[in-house]
Amino acid sequence: MTYTLMHTYQTVDFVKEKHALWGSCNHKKMTVMEALSLLDNLVDESDPDVDFPNSFHAYQTAEGIRMAHPDKDWFQLVGLLHDIGKIMALDNEPQWAVVGDTFPVGCKFQKSIVYSDTTYKDNPDTRHPVYSTEYGIYEPNCGLENVLMSWGHDEYLYRVLKFNQCTIPEEGMYMIRFHSFYPWHTGGDYQHLCNEKDQKMLPWVREFK
Ligand SMILES: [Fe+2]
Repeated sequence: MTYTLMHTYQTVDFVKEKHALWGSCNHKKMTVMEALSLLDNLVDESDPDVDFPNSFHAYQTAEGIRMAHPDKDWFQLVGLLHDIGKIMALDNEPQWAVVGDTFPVGCKFQKSIVYSDTTYKDNPDTRHPVYSTEYGIYEPNCGLENVLMSWGHDEYLYRVLKFNQCTIPEEGMYMIRFHSFYPWHTGGDYQHLCNEKDQKMLPWVREFK
């Protein structure tokens, strides 16, 4: 149901609205630990493996990375922070606009997207003369940073960190921004929109997810 709603209502116009609503980061001011604690109140309904609050997942991920990469403190930090954007779900955003796999809007929805065979039929962008084409509004190999992704916690946290002039290295910021883009990092799809930087960052995102 989460994906049916997501794939019905995530359109170019919807994503632009959410960028306008959340992008200026003027909702609330809080510390990272306060935001993490809020995730005690959230169970991600899109995750079939997890039925405990998201804050546990953050600590587990950070600990896993610490064991594998004891020398990379910024990487451990990314593990701890990466899902904090889900606090939008505690501030009136439906889960289908917060959690789950992400995908580009403004171009054809590809088969690599989970449940795509049945869930996009009521999405108006599938009948749009430009948005329904292979490249849609994008130039070939324009780079994922220039692609409008479905709205969710990845892009939101990326924007919050940028807004706060966070000094996490570029690889970490990239992991935060694209860790839910499964059709790309796991499905191997959307190569036609990727540039050299995306290829360089791919192993990092794969290492993380
Ligand atoms: Fe996530």
